[in-house]
Amino acid sequence: METEQIVTGTEVHSNKPIDYGKLIKDFGSQPVDDEIIDLINQVIIRRGLVDKKDKYLYYFKRGIFFSHRNLKSLLVNYLACMTNDKSSAQTFYIYTGRGPSSESLHIGHLIPFRMTQLLQELFDVPVVIQLTDDEKYYYSKDKKTLADFRAMAAENIKDILACGFNPQKTFTFTNTEYIQNLYPIVVQIQKLVNLNTVQAMFGFDNQSSVGKVSFPAIQAAPAFSACFPNFLPQTGKPLQCLVPCAIDQDVYFRLTSDVAHRLGHPKPVLLHAQFLPSLMGLNMKMSSSIADSVIFLSETEKSIAKKIGKCFSGGGDTIELHKANGANLDVDVPIHYLRFFLEDEAQYMRIRADYGKGIMSTGEVKKILIDVIKGVINQHKALRSP
Ligand code: TRP
Repeated sequence: METEQIVTGTEVHSNKPIDYGKLIKDFGSQPVDDEIIDLINQVIIRRGLVDKKDKYLYYFKRGIFFSHRNLKSLLVNYLACMTNDKSSAQTFYIYTGRGPSSESLHIGHLIPFRMTQLLQELFDVPVVIQLTDDEKYYYSKDKKTLADFRAMAAENIKDILACGFNPQKTFTFTNTEYIQNLYPIVVQIQKLVNLNTVQAMFGFDNQSSVGKVSFPAIQAAPAFSACFPNFLPQTGKPLQCLVPCAIDQDVYFRLTSDVAHRLGHPKPVLLHAQFLPSLMGLNMKMSSSIADSVIFLSETEKSIAKKIGKCFSGGGDTIELHKANGANLDVDVPIHYLRFFLEDEAQYMRIRADYGKGIMSTGEVKKILIDVIKGVINQHKALRSP
């Protein structure tokens, strides 16, 4: 059967590993290349953070944040505006978000938030985080009430803030509470977007609720600094916005870019992440509804070890075959998880080499991964407010 890959704002579906190169082509974005990495490196040096280089670079170097829109010009501008060696330049703010569809986040959800936190630290800029209780309510098929989604948003905020954001420079908001501040911008966006456009972009049909149809403007609005009169400087000149997000959210920001200039705002700059694959194999995305595919932030150490112990690997079928041929790293889940979560570049490269040659066994790699993930979750639990 012909396999089709579908990645939209409301659906991610593929029965093969996702072809991220194809997404760059289809969406018309740019790949994160050596020039981007070099510019980030220059920021690291100018900000005096060279000793933490791996931490700030590994998401870029490993291809986890693999695609962008206009990031180059944002970086060049930032560097040009830095006045002396270590001072930051307040040339932009960061916007990201979360649809509160479950009580606890899983480790895949952490990726864009961890990146956002690292970028906040590296650039010393404000961050706004949207919780779309409205969106998840429109899309829910069960009997959950709007109040349920608001409550999940409040829980999710705790998970998000545990990523270590700077409390002075971070603003989280839940749509049904904050809408008054978004609304003037939402209204201006809605006037410019017609039904045809959102139908084509999001796949809505005549049966789609008007809630779903009008929602894209609400996710677009926070990319305009005028939505935050009490948090962002309002100098008359709108502030540039950088949006780190998983690649499936890009469609919302193509819509945002289409209307930005007509609203007198700059187009948002985008930085796109890959999805963390399912524990069961690279042909699936981690999903909260499939227990064996996912590690929740609330998971116990025992259960982490158990789930990783039985995850899909590309090791040889027998010890002899493994020693002779090594592991198939392309399909190996533990290696991909280390790619996402093991910061130490030298150690990561060493494991890849040894495991690929069969010098290291699957068991040894899984053991390292279990320790890394336990570390991530324990740190998260320590920082999460009750
Ligand atoms: N729609 C996103 C989700 O379902 C939530 C979201 C809102 C978001 N605003 C965003 C994600 C900005 C990334 C960037 O999870």
